[in-house]
Formats: sequence, structure tokens, C-alpha cells
Amino acid sequence: MYKIPANTLFIGQQLIFVPECHSTNSLVSELSVKSTLTDGAVVITSNQTAGRGQRGNTWESASGYNLTFSILLKPVSLLVKNQFYLTIVASLAVVDFLKAYPIEGIKIKWPNDIYVGKKKICGILIENSIHSEYIQQSVLGIGLNINQRTFVYPYATSLSLVSNEKFDLNNSFNILLEKIEQRYLQFRTGKLAVLKKAYLENLLGLGELRTFISNKQKFEGTIEDVNDKGEIVVDENSIKTAFSTKEIQFVI
Ligand code: BTN
Repeated sequence: MYKIPANTLFIGQQLIFVPECHSTNSLVSELSVKSTLTDGAVVITSNQTAGRGQRGNTWESASGYNLTFSILLKPVSLLVKNQFYLTIVASLAVVDFLKAYPIEGIKIKWPNDIYVGKKKICGILIENSIHSEYIQQSVLGIGLNINQRTFVYPYATSLSLVSNEKFDLNNSFNILLEKIEQRYLQFRTGKLAVLKKAYLENLLGLGELRTFISNKQKFEGTIEDVNDKGEIVVDENSIKTAFSTKEIQFVI
């Protein structure tokens, strides 16, 4: 599997395919300590047995049907306070990939879930190692549902379900790596305003009245912005408050 390399400069040029592993994010972290992984090295598996999601959740993916992989990034001089740009890069790359297909309703659900309509097609888990005020390395894990057509979780979908086609995983993987590299190069060349604008343009519910839960309380508010710290700015009765992912849940 994954023998044809992507047409990229560095992302995926060092490629490690393992038929099965617990979590590609964990494996990249382990390997980065034990061996030499270059900037942009990718670990991909067909069967992730203990996939990890955000907030301690698990990520379930049927063996051999989807993309489950992680990229090691070693950004030069990325300040911790700008780390949200890695979330923007990854989310936009997945959106760019999906937009090549005639699919309606592709959106980023803050901070980095990718939805088609009301269903989640992709989850992203970014784990950063920090040294003083800089990001030393980042492991960017992506679970993108491609050919799986039945899910236990009712709000999950796949590219095959939304397009009614079947896809070659190696080909999809290579296209996605190219999209990730394009967005990452925008970031590395300082196109932060371009990235932020594109992120907001694709943000689910921007400017709309939505339901949130914070401190176990449900409330309605309008999504005004996502600030540079990655906090969502919600207007509730003309009072604007910025919330981190730990402080608020966005009910879809
Ligand atoms: C989420 O939506 O909660 C994030 C899910 C991230 C899943 C991917 S699959 C590849 C990588 N390895 C992991 O263990 N998790 C990420």
C-alpha cells in the first residue's frame, strides 16, 4: 500500500506505511524520539486499533477503507501564540481536497472538524511539543473517511457516501498531501492573512445564531470570529466573549 509517492517537495517524501498500529500520532511521536524523522515525514496505516481524537475521545475507522495518518512538522520559529495556524493549514487542506468533488456543504466546524452538511467526514488531532515560547515539533494527525459506507456513529460520513463513488486510497492520499503542502507553504511564507480569511470563509455558522454549551449551560449566540489564539468569539446579546475549546461546545 501507498507505494506511489506524492508530488510534493517534502511532505510525505519520507513515508512509513505500517499495516496496523495503535495510533499514527503516537507512532510518529515514538519514532521521532528513537530515529531520524525528517520534516514532513508521514506515518500511515490501514488499521488503526486505538485511534485518538480530541478531548480524549477515540477515533474509529474501518480497516482498509479510510485514510488514517500523521505528519511530523518541524516548523522554524513558530511561536506558541501562533500555533492555531497549523489547525488552519490542516483544516483548509482537507477542505481544498474535498472541494475537488461535486459535494455541497463542506465546512470547518470550529476548531478543526470537517463536516459535509450535518455529518463529520474528517477529524484532525494536532499535538505540539513546546520548547519555551516555540513549537519544537508538531504531529498533525488526520482521519479522513473515504470508502467506509456504514458507521456506528450516526453523524459520520465518508467521501464515498457523499459522492456515491469508490476511491483509490493511494491516489486520495497523494492529492491530500499535496493540498497540505500547498497550505503549509502559504503559512511558511507568511501568508497568514490569506489563511485566516480562507478559514473564516469556510467556517460553519459564521455570522449565524447558533447553540453553544458553556459551564453546562446552553445558550444562543452568533459566531463573530475566531481570534489568532484560535478562540471562538461569540456574541451573546451584544456581549462578545472569546472561548477556548475547553470552555465551550458548539452544538450542531
Ligand atoms: C477528532 O475529531 O477527535 C480527531 C480525530 C483524529 C484522528 C486521526 S487518525 C490519524 C491520527 N492518529 C490518531 O490517533 N488520531 C489521528
